[in-house]
Amino acid sequence: MATLLYITAHPFQHDTYSLSVGAQFIQTYREVNPNDEVIHLDLYRMDLPQIDADLLRRWGQPPSGASFDELSDESKAKAVRMREILDQFMAADKIVIVNPVWNYLFPPVLKTYLDAVFVPGKTFTRADNGRRGLGGLKGTQQDKKVLHIQASGTVLSHGEFQEVEYSHRYLRDALKFLGIDDVRAIYVEGTSEMPEQAARIKEDAIQQAIAAAKQF
Ligand SMILES: Cc1cc2nc3c(=O)[nH]c(=O)nc-3n(C[C@H](O)[C@H](O)[C@H](O)COP(=O)(O)O)c2cc1C
Repeated sequence: MATLLYITAHPFQHDTYSLSVGAQFIQTYREVNPNDEVIHLDLYRMDLPQIDADLLRRWGQPPSGASFDELSDESKAKAVRMREILDQFMAADKIVIVNPVWNYLFPPVLKTYLDAVFVPGKTFTRADNGRRGLGGLKGTQQDKKVLHIQASGTVLSHGEFQEVEYSHRYLRDALKFLGIDDVRAIYVEGTSEMPEQAARIKEDAIQQAIAAAKQF
């Protein structure tokens, strides 16, 4: 039995381009894999702490690390919640991430989530190659696979605006840093640019989602 994290970074809960494609993926995935566990993380509705002064101090960053007992009750709760989010991410076999593009990027809650699961000594560790900085680190999450479903008003995955496609590229590179090389994408894109084709664009993406769910 596999565990799939279904992560939606959208203020709405259904009926948008990205969420419609995501919902279809999950429906088909459940039909094909009835024994798998699907956990929905609705990032706009769950308790998702940000990296703040409490957490930075807790992680031993300047000014200095505080032991857990010295933390306020609020800080303790935040640290515990961050740990739960991290443990859940590490235990997942498969991850599906759904988002719109806003001003060139995914919504900020997704960055907050990534900040919660990029944890030294857990999802990445020292590479023992004598290097410092990024070159001296390696990911630990090799066994995971990820599907990214993204909606944008303009076509970004190829063509004229490919260079400003930061959202999927950021996610792909960030996940690669964690050791995850298997990152696939379904784009629902160009719906504002070509409104007369929006229904077809959505339907194409839905068909891609059905096909992807059968082999994910
Ligand atoms: C605040 C905001 C910013 C947006 N910025 C972009 C953008 O930078 N590039 C783009 O192609 N589309 C942009 N769009 C259009 C959305 O990406 C598009 O409507 C997409 O379908 C949203 O996904 P959804 O249908 O799942 O909500 C923006 C929309 C909003 C509301």
